[in-house]
Amino acid sequence: MYPVDLTGQNAVVFGVANDRSIAWAIAKTLAGAGARIALTYQNERLQSRVARLADSLDDAVILPCDAAQDGDIEQVFESLASEMGSLSILVHSIAFANQEDLAGRLADTGREGFRLALEISAFTLLPMVRCAAPLMTGGGSVIAMTFHASSRVYPGYNVMGTAKAALEHEVRQLAHEYGGANIRVNAISAGPVDTLAARGISGFLDMKRTHASRAPLQRNITADEVAKSALFLCSDLSSAVTGTVLPVDAGYHIMAV
Ligand SMILES: NC(=O)c1ccc[n+]([C@@H]2O[C@H](COP(=O)([O-])OP(=O)(O)OC[C@H]3O[C@@H](n4cnc5c(N)ncnc54)[C@H](O)[C@@H]3O)[C@@H](O)[C@H]2O)c1
Repeated sequence: MYPVDLTGQNAVVFGVANDRSIAWAIAKTLAGAGARIALTYQNERLQSRVARLADSLDDAVILPCDAAQDGDIEQVFESLASEMGSLSILVHSIAFANQEDLAGRLADTGREGFRLALEISAFTLLPMVRCAAPLMTGGGSVIAMTFHASSRVYPGYNVMGTAKAALEHEVRQLAHEYGGANIRVNAISAGPVDTLAARGISGFLDMKRTHASRAPLQRNITADEVAKSALFLCSDLSSAVTGTVLPVDAGYHIMAV
């Protein structure tokens, strides 16, 4: 499909909920380049849908993982060790905040809502990388998904912006900690894409319209475009790129008006 060969490499992708998920676009693209894919699903409600998607890939593995549970994360990597042996790629494409914390004022966020958003959307990258590293014996590539609201104010994005700022910091710190093992850690800052998670953000459609009208490329982006950049970050083409946040947003982030 693209001139990148990931044959013989194994990838675990967290965050497929349905066929609109950014994680699914990435999983398909990595599989198209020859990687063997493991998908995780958050709960039983999502299991059959994720299983159907996995069936469309060659020899994919599917595993349960509620990232709120340390034991689930550890179990994923134990299963990967026995099912796949080694790992080259880890994609973290999960985020969560309570609906009431994605509207109104950030100032009204309660302690529990703040904890939950930061825990699921940012903290979880840490145990995932820690558990993946021993399997990345030949080096590896880790990708997390972030958004421009980490550094700019998007009314409505609220505590998720705080979580993305934390996530981007983790990307830099982990890149430093795992660079000696040739494990690269990067994030993609995607422009607005219509997904289940995006629909929960108040003002999302306005945000999408504004991006399309102001971005240098004068349009929105697609999940497949995020996936192509993920393929670059997962491949040898980006062998010296780590600790970075790559905007895949039709250029929106450079604009002041
Ligand atoms: N869609 C956008 O506009 C956009 C833009 C920039 C960044 N992102 C980021 O991309 C990532 C993927 O989101 P998406 O837009 O594809 O939406 P999505 O709803 O398809 O994916 C979110 C995923 O998070 C998972 N998740 C939530 N809580 C979990 C938990 N406790 N355990 C395990 N998994 C859990 C869900 O099951 C789901 O698969 C998120 O980090 C999101 O913030 C999205």
